[in-house]
Amino acid sequence: MLTHTLSGRTQYYLQLEEDFGAHNYHPLPVVLEKGKGVFAWDVDGKRYYDFLSGYSAVNQGHCHPRIIQALVEQAQKLTLTSRAFYNNLLGEYEKFATEYFGYDKLLPMNTGVEAVETALKLCRRWGYEKKGIKDGEAKIVVCENNFHGRTTTVISFSTDEQSNAKFGPYTPGFIIIPYNDTDALQKALEDKNVAGFLVEPIQGEAGVCVPDEGYLSKAKQLCEAYNVLFIGDEIQTGLGRTGKMLACDHENVRPDILILGKALSGGTIPVSAVFADNDIMMTIKPGEHGSTYGGNPLACAVAMESLKVLKEENMLQNADAMGALMRGEIAKLNSPFISTIRGKGLLNAIVIEHANKDAAWELCLALKENGLLAKPTHGDKIRFAPPLTITREQILECVDIIRRSLKILL
Ligand SMILES: Cc1ncc(COP(=O)(O)O)c(C=O)c1O
Repeated sequence: MLTHTLSGRTQYYLQLEEDFGAHNYHPLPVVLEKGKGVFAWDVDGKRYYDFLSGYSAVNQGHCHPRIIQALVEQAQKLTLTSRAFYNNLLGEYEKFATEYFGYDKLLPMNTGVEAVETALKLCRRWGYEKKGIKDGEAKIVVCENNFHGRTTTVISFSTDEQSNAKFGPYTPGFIIIPYNDTDALQKALEDKNVAGFLVEPIQGEAGVCVPDEGYLSKAKQLCEAYNVLFIGDEIQTGLGRTGKMLACDHENVRPDILILGKALSGGTIPVSAVFADNDIMMTIKPGEHGSTYGGNPLACAVAMESLKVLKEENMLQNADAMGALMRGEIAKLNSPFISTIRGKGLLNAIVIEHANKDAAWELCLALKENGLLAKPTHGDKIRFAPPLTITREQILECVDIIRRSLKILL
């Protein structure tokens, strides 16, 4: 066991949150005050590799200079108009982003879960207006162990008790099936009231669960056969994280409704979006959905720049190559404590096998001591998802940090 000595400054900030903040998170005891690229620094000036990247919001690296410049320049001009008026950036952004992803229309929101809620409403509306489902009877199929956010409706179809216990009553209208199971999907789709299938191409929060090859394309085929919308939640998997622009691109699947968030702003401000073609998107009319901050000019400026740097700085190719290198190098460690290493691109996780049920947490504390920040998810899994700008040399250094840190479990 490591004995962790925290500096006085660190303890001060931990105590402030303990005393004055709600206790809805259990953070690693590190207090960050600066970030640049793949690194973050704590209040004592210690530097760390960031292997969480703000749950994949910081794909482009901390404080990417071009994104920050776009943010600052726009912040000095105009930040918010509300949608009561037009602003000169929303249309530009909508044109840019719909061409970028190949959809007719975009609906702008802020946080990821708001975009998920938007997609659910849009799907239900399409179900009533286009598929002919009787009003109030639409169903949406979702998967076990999903994570789509924290609102009341979205936790209604979570299978994680920590997320939904004692937060009921829950929103009805969801059918839960096992992930990575197209037979179960087909059975569920036979219900004529099903309007959509909401799925994460890789289940991130569940521990980077990668479905079998062919799952997404078969699921899409089934959705088409049953006239059901395929809704891709790419909030965590999208924007280069898995080595392609979208994780669905690995199987040439084009979601009918695409949900993006997180890295759409490179980790600066909350920006999310829902994409669909006219047949779906135009079923929502003025006044039927919206958000005060959605589509604000600051968000539009930041999102355009965040998308540009992903492509112009070859981050997808780098994520693909560095991910393969990292998984290969970790496998070479041959650690008896790592039962699995899995992932795609730079969305990866290791599964810890150890008699001590807190081993993953202990390992994360050791990694922190050695200069790498990662966080366990669901007990025994640790996500390794650095910014997409990480270099070969840095990967090798990080794997060496992991090797040294694993000794704590001996
Ligand atoms: C797949 C997925 N959907 C939705 C969300 C919710 O996003 P937000 O926390 O911005 O509401 C997350 C967040 O981790 C996510 O990973």
